[in-house]
Amino acid sequence: MNILAIESSCDETAAAVVEDGVTIRSNVIASSAAMHAKYGGIVPEVAAREQLKVIIPTIDEALKQAKTDFASVDAIAITVGPGLIGSLLIGVETAKTIALTTGKPLIPVNHVLAHMYANFVQNEQNSSRAQSRDHIGKIEFPAISLVVSGGHTELFLMESPKKITWLGGTLDDAAGEAFDKTARLLGFENRGGPAIQESAARFQLDKSRFKTKLPRPLLHDGSLNFSFSGLKTAIWREWNKISDIDEEMTSAFAYEVQEAITDVLVAKTMHAAQKYAAKSIFISGGVAANLRLREKMQDAAEKKSVKLFIPPISLCTDNAVYIASYAFFRGASADWHTITAVPNLSVEIYL
Ligand code: KG4
Ligand code: ZN
Repeated sequence: MNILAIESSCDETAAAVVEDGVTIRSNVIASSAAMHAKYGGIVPEVAAREQLKVIIPTIDEALKQAKTDFASVDAIAITVGPGLIGSLLIGVETAKTIALTTGKPLIPVNHVLAHMYANFVQNEQNSSRAQSRDHIGKIEFPAISLVVSGGHTELFLMESPKKITWLGGTLDDAAGEAFDKTARLLGFENRGGPAIQESAARFQLDKSRFKTKLPRPLLHDGSLNFSFSGLKTAIWREWNKISDIDEEMTSAFAYEVQEAITDVLVAKTMHAAQKYAAKSIFISGGVAANLRLREKMQDAAEKKSVKLFIPPISLCTDNAVYIASYAFFRGASADWHTITAVPNLSVEIYL
């Protein structure tokens, strides 16, 4: 079954064709991120205007690369939320029009839940059926799934590709938000998590010069919730205390921020894995691209003999591949009349 998926919830416009939820036939992404850089954040109106320009060429390119067309795909999947209303509307109205004119089933998708299906996808484009079966066959349930992105930090229990239970999430800000605000504070403008990661990797500072120790919020509270708002305040306070800021000091600070955030993400995920006797762990979402998080999660999973699945970096940040995969494994089509963009769509709506 070939699903054409469309994703336009933020500043990316993406389309992909995925076979049986696992095999990538095409994956096309257009981003307006560079246009927002000078404003220090995404300008929703600019994002939506750009999406309007690129959505048709993006879908055309995805069909072309997959060597298929509207008549040959089996269904259309569309992100309906959460996200920016103007951006979501561009994708949703386009997908509804395609469904109306082609008569194909239309599957509404919750973007946050969909992120975790990046773990179900075979990494290589156009992988063989045997490779795809082999990949899926390695996943054992129950699994604990951490979705960690710019707007969400959520833990789920997955008992099968269809059965998902929400276990906990952030009480305030998301981990990605803490990375993004720190990047701005440290002068990396709009480059967010990747800038912190790059700077932290250059950390060589003599420990005696760098004294900052940031809190690890809710680390030992026994819950499966997160909180990053207090950490954001502590980051601001501690940064403003430092008088001898130079490149070395900035790297040391970026390193400590990355350690604080990833310590909490790993500890909570492992706590959930233990509590639910998980056989697999999934991580996904933009922050799952973080190399230090990947490394620490790998070490922790190995120690507990749990299988760890991490999507390739290109499938962690927003794309339409996992939208198609979710639609295949868990989606249900709905009459196009009833489908609308829902900017504040909760993770619980589709459970
Ligand atoms: O999933 P995503 O692309 O969009 C949302 O659905 O939010 O996630 C974007 C978030 C941003 O906060 C970005 O700074 C963060 O993912 N991110 C990273 C890295 N790459 C992207 N955070 C830490 N390290 C990275 N390498
Ligand atoms: Zn996302």
